[in-house]
Amino acid sequence: MTNTDRGVPGSSPHADIGRRDEQPDETRFEPAIHYWGTPVVLVSTQNPDGTANLAPMSSGWWLGWSCMLGFDATSRTVENLRRTGECVLNLPDATLAPQVDRLARTTGSDPMPAHKAAMGYESVADKFGRAGFTPVRSETVAPPRAAECPVQLEAAVTAIGDFGVRDHRLLIPAVAVEVTIRRVHAHPDIRSTRFHNRIDPGRWDPLLMSFLEYKGTRRVDQTSGLRQVDEEFYAGRSPRRITQRATR
Ligand SMILES: Cc1cc2nc3c(=O)[nH]c(=O)nc-3n(C[C@H](O)[C@H](O)[C@H](O)COP(=O)(O)O)c2cc1C
Repeated sequence: MTNTDRGVPGSSPHADIGRRDEQPDETRFEPAIHYWGTPVVLVSTQNPDGTANLAPMSSGWWLGWSCMLGFDATSRTVENLRRTGECVLNLPDATLAPQVDRLARTTGSDPMPAHKAAMGYESVADKFGRAGFTPVRSETVAPPRAAECPVQLEAAVTAIGDFGVRDHRLLIPAVAVEVTIRRVHAHPDIRSTRFHNRIDPGRWDPLLMSFLEYKGTRRVDQTSGLRQVDEEFYAGRSPRRITQRATR
């Protein structure tokens, strides 16, 4: 078997095909962000005083009943996840974009990390209230579910590890949080009428984050509040890493 058969990169005898050394490659560019279109997740966690925090994020993916979440390591959510090991992953549909966006540039941290202060974030203690979501008791974890979200996944933390440590463009320390889903709740109106344990994809319109705009499978006319921060801020074109936290 040759390297080509094995799919080893750069080993093809035809590697020169398509090279355009004479002209600049017009497809090549360096985006500040890689928000290619992923589902928005509202993560609820429990604060040290027993109240609930709710944070929008869009760096989640699932395999089996496990989910990987990519988070700014300084966020209140990560602090809560490290301490309690529990969360709910609430999945909003596209109609909830305006409510979700009330949480853009908010944090449960008070005082907040220096980079969030620089980006105009606001410390908000009651984010369920701010966004107008109704907290309802979960069955297997302490943090509440957001009733309006058609999908609510109760989950427990399996592992938390550093993420992107060799990525000099990632200015803010990040973590990958692996969680295991313990219980799934889904509104009846997105479920299959023919099969008990199935979602009907024709009825489920997840809210997606595509660059700094919200999208659904139908059109959503809603720019994200994150747009208030210059996109270039995220580009990491200097080797500087922001690690400084505001002092308590
Ligand atoms: C639509 C949307 C998607 C976001 N995606 C992420 C993400 O994937 N990871 C992340 O760390 N922050 C993401 N953020 C920013 C967080 O919401 C922000 O860090 C927030 O302060 C976290 O809240 P907390 O500090 O209370 O945990 C996103 C914000 C919005 C509005």
